[in-house]
Amino acid sequence: MRAAALVLGSVAGSALANFNPVDAFNLFTRNAQISSGCSTSGPASCHNTTRQSNLCCFESPGGLLLQTQFWDTNPSTGPSDSWTIHGLWPDNCDGTFTENCDPSRAYTNIASLLSAQGASDTLSFMQEYWVDINGQNEQFWEHEWSTHGTCYSTLEPSCLPSGSAKGAEAVAFFNTVVSLFKTLPTYDWLSSAGITPSTSKTYTLSQITSAVKSAHGFIPSLNCDSSTTINQISYYFNLKGSLLDGQFVPIDAPEKGTCASSGLKYPPKSGSGSGSSPTTSAGGSSPTTSGGLPSKAHLQASTTGGLLTAGTWSTQTPATYTISGSPSSFTLSTSKGPCAVSSGTLTCGSSVSSPSTFSAVSSGGQLLLAFQGSTSWTSDKTPSGTDQEAVFTGTGHSVDYTIAIVST
Ligand SMILES: *[C@@H]1O[C@H](CO)[C@@H](O)[C@H](O)[C@H]1NC(C)=O
Repeated sequence: MRAAALVLGSVAGSALANFNPVDAFNLFTRNAQISSGCSTSGPASCHNTTRQSNLCCFESPGGLLLQTQFWDTNPSTGPSDSWTIHGLWPDNCDGTFTENCDPSRAYTNIASLLSAQGASDTLSFMQEYWVDINGQNEQFWEHEWSTHGTCYSTLEPSCLPSGSAKGAEAVAFFNTVVSLFKTLPTYDWLSSAGITPSTSKTYTLSQITSAVKSAHGFIPSLNCDSSTTINQISYYFNLKGSLLDGQFVPIDAPEKGTCASSGLKYPPKSGSGSGSSPTTSAGGSSPTTSGGLPSKAHLQASTTGGLLTAGTWSTQTPATYTISGSPSSFTLSTSKGPCAVSSGTLTCGSSVSSPSTFSAVSSGGQLLLAFQGSTSWTSDKTPSGTDQEAVFTGTGHSVDYTIAIVST
């Protein structure tokens, strides 16, 4: 029923990553996300061919994940230039689902839980982008957690490191949802295809789904009020590893939403709804491109060090990379020039005549640099001192790692 399109995971260096210098710089969720210790090299959820026994590291039965977003205009909620978060739901692989899986973990006062466990940045983001249509944000968050969050097998408290605080799995859930949402900037994707809110224009369903597909690579499903007023979009994923820190594998929507095929209205938000603030955009404290991707970033290796201006790996002071585009498709350049992957090697410089397109994959509260969907990078050895190692795509050399995009 649903096709796989694997974003290859990498557990590169996970054994070495007890101290991960990237965490300290991560602007997307500055909170230290709990590590699951799970590999992401096994099958994605819903794609196993044998029975998986460790459901802390394999999401089951709810392995079809939907990141749902609202476009609420009656009344308007959230910024007028952004869709808002509805939730992240674990459907079964056949599209059926269960809800309210553990009433004993139906936590209340999510806002305090987040602040108490180092997730204040996630909380502030939620106050702007995960908002209830009637202004009852706290109730909405409690509902999303207890109804859907408690159904994740990989978020069972027994899957967390021993000694984890009560509710830590819910904190991890909110961190993960926010981080994933930032990679799915629906408003920006539609507006760059000329699809903007209007009181008079109408759009066809295929105009909208094609615009998202060309930016994101996969087809979402769209829900409408009264079948013609766009109200919700759902992005579908399978998951490799744990919801704590695994990798989201995007897939085409396996089901159609409720919108008609044409005559769709995408009304402007009034700007007077609760929590509205028309001029803000997603992201951290430094300038961002669309969708929360920083426009200036360091590229930090998961093991040690980062990338220099030529695209080589070193433990010397990392270079500043300029990012242009959206999380699903962007180019990189440094003071030396544009960057490309050429014969499997990353290079930046004036000799690069056709820059490569990269994407960002949300994983464990970080944005990882991906090329052709893979977040795996590899070198002949770990640099030290003034060494510079060539950075290759894939895993063919001695040292494997991932590269985080860290806002400067
Ligand atoms: C995949 O693993 C789950 C969890 O163990 C199991 O219920 C399901 O039957 C497995 N699917 C296949 C095709 O083996």
